[in-house]
Amino acid sequence: MQISITVNGQQRTDEVEPRLLLAHYLREVCGLKATNLGCDTTSCGACTVIVDGLSVKSCTVLAAQTDGAQVTTLEGLTGPDGEMHPVQKAFREEHGLQCGFCTPGMVMAAIGVLADNPDPTDREIREGLEGNLCRCTGYHNIVRAVQSAAGAGPAAGQVPQAQEVAR
Ligand code: FES
Ligand code: FES
Repeated sequence: MQISITVNGQQRTDEVEPRLLLAHYLREVCGLKATNLGCDTTSCGACTVIVDGLSVKSCTVLAAQTDGAQVTTLEGLTGPDGEMHPVQKAFREEHGLQCGFCTPGMVMAAIGVLADNPDPTDREIREGLEGNLCRCTGYHNIVRAVQSAAGAGPAAGQVPQAQEVAR
């Protein structure tokens, strides 16, 4: 079947099998390898992306279900001048990552948390990220990074508009 999706600001049309997962579409068809697959069973959150403003586990969604949608992966967060997204900056400043396997999904989920609630409490951040697992950092620095990103204002809960994405 044919699907048309805007991925990181670029509209594309592809022939896909109806059973193709969004995660596999992004990695194998679009070549966007920041979206990681840690479990394939909706447990780890490493595959989290933003679909029409909501954070979604892309191993749980068929590519066909996102026909007509705007999908943003970690690669799409960078501004036209190479500037990092406020959540990426905060993860770097607060040392919210170590091995980095979970980090793209954690960053995308954090954007989803801040989109829902621009000024979350520590507890609300932890609850918002409970679908994302990280074996490295013990979560404290990740929570601090989300708190810090919240201080950057509403941009922290948004993904770049299609026309602003550098491609
Ligand atoms: S790979 Fe999707 S939740 Fe783990
Ligand atoms: S940074 Fe290593 S699993 Fe998250």
